[in-house]
Amino acid sequence: MNKTWWKNSVIYQIYPRSFADSNGDGIGDLNGITAHLDYLKELGVDVIWLSPVYQSPNDDNGYDISDYQAIMKEFGTMEDFDRMLSEMHKRGLKLVMDLVVNHTSDEHHWFMESRKSKDNPYRDYYIWKDPRDGKEPNNWGACFGGSAWEYDKETDMYYLHCFSKKQPDLNWENETVRKEVFDMMTWWCEKGVDGFRMDVISMISKDPAFPDGVVHDNLYGDNSPYVCNGPRVHEYLKEMNQKVLSKFDLITVGEAAGVTIEEAKKYANLDGSELNMVFQFEHMGVVECEHGKWTDKRFELKKLRAVLNKWQTELEGKAWNSLYWDNHDQPRAVSRFGNDGPMYRELSAKMLGTCLHMMKGTPYIYQGEEIGMTNAYFKNLEDYRDIESINAYKEYTENNIMNPEEMMSALKAVSRDNARTPMQWDDSENAGFTTGTPWIKVNPNYPMINAKSALEDKDSVFYYYQKLIKLRKENEIIIDGVFKGLLEEDENIYAYERILGDQKLLVACNFSDKTVACDLFETEEVKKGQELISNYIYHKEAVLKPYEARVVLIP
Ligand code: NOJ
Repeated sequence: MNKTWWKNSVIYQIYPRSFADSNGDGIGDLNGITAHLDYLKELGVDVIWLSPVYQSPNDDNGYDISDYQAIMKEFGTMEDFDRMLSEMHKRGLKLVMDLVVNHTSDEHHWFMESRKSKDNPYRDYYIWKDPRDGKEPNNWGACFGGSAWEYDKETDMYYLHCFSKKQPDLNWENETVRKEVFDMMTWWCEKGVDGFRMDVISMISKDPAFPDGVVHDNLYGDNSPYVCNGPRVHEYLKEMNQKVLSKFDLITVGEAAGVTIEEAKKYANLDGSELNMVFQFEHMGVVECEHGKWTDKRFELKKLRAVLNKWQTELEGKAWNSLYWDNHDQPRAVSRFGNDGPMYRELSAKMLGTCLHMMKGTPYIYQGEEIGMTNAYFKNLEDYRDIESINAYKEYTENNIMNPEEMMSALKAVSRDNARTPMQWDDSENAGFTTGTPWIKVNPNYPMINAKSALEDKDSVFYYYQKLIKLRKENEIIIDGVFKGLLEEDENIYAYERILGDQKLLVACNFSDKTVACDLFETEEVKKGQELISNYIYHKEAVLKPYEARVVLIP
């Protein structure tokens, strides 16, 4: 077994609800995915990460699971799943499942039993606490608004839910819970899946003192210091590794809210005792914000670069990075970090791809990123479907923390629904996503931005991404080269080099819509180097044109 194939891989994330609908009910499904595997093969990715497809009442689009070993009805059947998996494997594509085990749905039979009585055998599968002075056990707020505790009158106790009240947190202190989770994971591994993306895995161990958190916006206390990277998280992951992960040839990535460099070195230690890599969030949070994540402010390149360079340099030789701009929880990268106007959308999408894919780590592409899909910019609250966006709008406007205009503007910039509009396949009605009524509106720019037209245009973002992926396969330096930041004070250019033996790779990206001077291209060695990729026609000037990206290999 080549145990580190995941270092050479490029991963494509599918959000199944919005990818492709095969039966006209307006919701993407497994057969829709199977029908588009050749498209992904053409792009050149190696692994597909599938957001949850398990049975779920869909309070949080599948991140609230009521049966870990059944497929959500809207998505198809277990036979459809098996066929999809075998079609992936036939094409040499691997499959990563989303593992959501910080919490279940409140409709999971474990929880339905647990809430029945204090002596139910499932009681201790969840985190139950007595009221404090007749109220919630502490002041923690939930990620999707309101308190993190829900009162249950049946037993006069509260249960913990870090997300919605339909997502009760599992009690990982309970050995039986861990065993149930590990058995379920083994069942999927024996079915042939190739790995797991572990949802908020950094949150599975809570501070046993359950202390009050610092209050924000006069609402609730922040629980993150007490639920992220908790006292037993590494012990649990080591146990998971021994009992499940080490027995199969898998790729594992932990979604690690609140992770620091020091913690990442433990989660993704190269000794292989826990996970292969983690998703860190620091570069997603570079815009300072008074009210949680809700702002429409633009980022500053200096801050973004400082964070990414820190992760590149400090994990060197210690742990492996995951690289991403986009996923189903983030706005579209080209709208957030690039320029989604007609003039620069494609150029800036290619520039962002270059900047990320030439770094050290495993790159992730989120569906639609490869054709430069943009934010939805919904104008009405009724167009939103995301529980986080809708609840935040209500909580912040009702408590006069932000006014409706400010909140709508923040939603346009950062709502998760920006990434969840249907995949734009072609210019037919509903972008070829469905023949029915889509569960969420299609971005009206689909006649312009769609996969069919991208495949017909040899200069498209799609073929550029295809080339980025191919370069990674052909150049060891992209995988193993040591990262070194350059021009670290520049306001427009993000530049770095990668070094492997005598070879160097120079990467320079202009994040602005101006032509800027770049003296990196004036040295003799760079002049003699070989341009591997650029989003402009080859030129020798020591400048970077608007959103230009250039990669030069120096032998
Ligand atoms: C992180 C997932 O990516 C997000 O979509 C979900 O809402 C939360 N975890 C809760 O499961």
